[in-house]
Amino acid sequence: MDSKKDHSFIEVDDGFQPSAPKKGPPCKFVIFGGGGDLTTRLLMPAIYNLAQAQLLDEEFSVIAVDWSESSTEILRQKFTATMQDFVERRGKNAVALEQSTWDWLMERVTFLQGSFTESSTYDKLSLLLGESNCIFYLAVAARFFSVIVDQLGNAALTVEKPDCYRRVIIEKPFGADYASAVTLNTELSKTLSEKQIYRIDHYLGKETVQNILALRFSNGMFEPLWNRQNIDHIQITAAETVGVEKRGSFYEVTGALRDMVPNHIMQLLTMIAMEAPTSFEADAVRDEKTKVLAAIAPPTAADIVRGQYTAGAIEGVAVDGYRSEGSVAAKSQTETYVAMKLQIDNWRWAGVPFYIRTGKRLAHRKTEISIHFKQAPFALFRDTPVEKLTPNIMVLHIQPKEGVTIQFSAKVPGPMVRLGGVRMNFDYSDWFTVGPSTGYETLLYDCMVGDATLFQRADNIEAGWEIVQPALNAWKDHEDPLCFYPAGTEGPYEAEELLSKTGRHWLKL
Ligand code: BG6
Repeated sequence: MDSKKDHSFIEVDDGFQPSAPKKGPPCKFVIFGGGGDLTTRLLMPAIYNLAQAQLLDEEFSVIAVDWSESSTEILRQKFTATMQDFVERRGKNAVALEQSTWDWLMERVTFLQGSFTESSTYDKLSLLLGESNCIFYLAVAARFFSVIVDQLGNAALTVEKPDCYRRVIIEKPFGADYASAVTLNTELSKTLSEKQIYRIDHYLGKETVQNILALRFSNGMFEPLWNRQNIDHIQITAAETVGVEKRGSFYEVTGALRDMVPNHIMQLLTMIAMEAPTSFEADAVRDEKTKVLAAIAPPTAADIVRGQYTAGAIEGVAVDGYRSEGSVAAKSQTETYVAMKLQIDNWRWAGVPFYIRTGKRLAHRKTEISIHFKQAPFALFRDTPVEKLTPNIMVLHIQPKEGVTIQFSAKVPGPMVRLGGVRMNFDYSDWFTVGPSTGYETLLYDCMVGDATLFQRADNIEAGWEIVQPALNAWKDHEDPLCFYPAGTEGPYEAEELLSKTGRHWLKL
């Protein structure tokens, strides 16, 4: 018997694949930056996976707009080469590329050469679009977001009709601080209604992130414990082993705080902390998220640690320090790590610290959320004092491990009553067939069908920036010290102190 999947004692519905997949409506998917990296590495594989899952209409097509010289043929060859490379690198157990699906998709790809800033590009685009549903995906540098939306508006390409939607997906980064995010929202709203804007945060495309709401709100047993009476504190970790790769010039002016916190980490935090929405309608969910963000006061300098990696080793391989990376200043003050303590001042969470940390070149790649429950109140067990009891911790593993672990105490076998820590593990792959996914599939499909639940509303984005703005202001003048950590470690020592001064500790990476 498969012990991991023993259904003998309980009826489990494990058929989560819809029997008849519901195709999205006919749609022209226009990608600005159609020849770029994001399109080749993420969007095309995601669209292929949707085609393979039979979720695309016969009339679906892709128009790749880019300023560089190319042709439909060259672009198709580039997409095909990248896709084949992906499949080969997945190894011999990987699902092979389904050639007929790929051919079906490639036949529907057209290249349109043109500058994003010239109206002639939009005139040519208009001829290709006609009266169809359109999604405009802005896979371009942030400085082009408003320019492209203005031009789409000038060419009347954003006008919706009863049977014809026009939607715009905006990539990250959405603003570089609070003021620029507000300005961008204002600029977009001159041409688009809020319902037409889909601000993407790829963390919301991750199955394990979406599972946070399923875990909390489709089970009766967790929610009664989910509050300040029972929870001591919560840790949110997004640790990476990669450095800044070839993105030195982007990262120098961005840093870990802007890159990860107001967007990805705030999304994780709001999913963990929000109240149950009245429905899973987009606005009901996003209203609850905004309420959580509104209840967070910006952290003070004493509650933030900013770090930068020095030379070290990742899995035994020596790597350079941040200041030796390409396009990085020799005395760079940019942080590659940030940890902070946040408080949510509302009825449910008052007094429960939320500790968050994220950084590059850390010991392991790991994104997880751990819920640390309060200790049992007194020592009933003579040989195990209460301070030695294994703390109850529930860990939601987002990536690369996908699942949930619960840690608790159990009696150690033997004549004496002694307690030891044990763990119960749920691993996604033990229960479900997890197909290849880039994380963008759900997001693209949801936009096609008009479900904005997993996209950020203007007020969500602005509230995230408001929380970190005081820190950004202080750091501009280098008021807060930078703490160094060798690559391949747990991060700066000062981050450990952030918790240890209250007797708590980070989970090991
Ligand atoms: C991106 C950041 O938004 O998220 C990158 O710009 C970071 O710096 C990446 O590496 C992390 O995403 P993931 O899905 O690998 O956790």
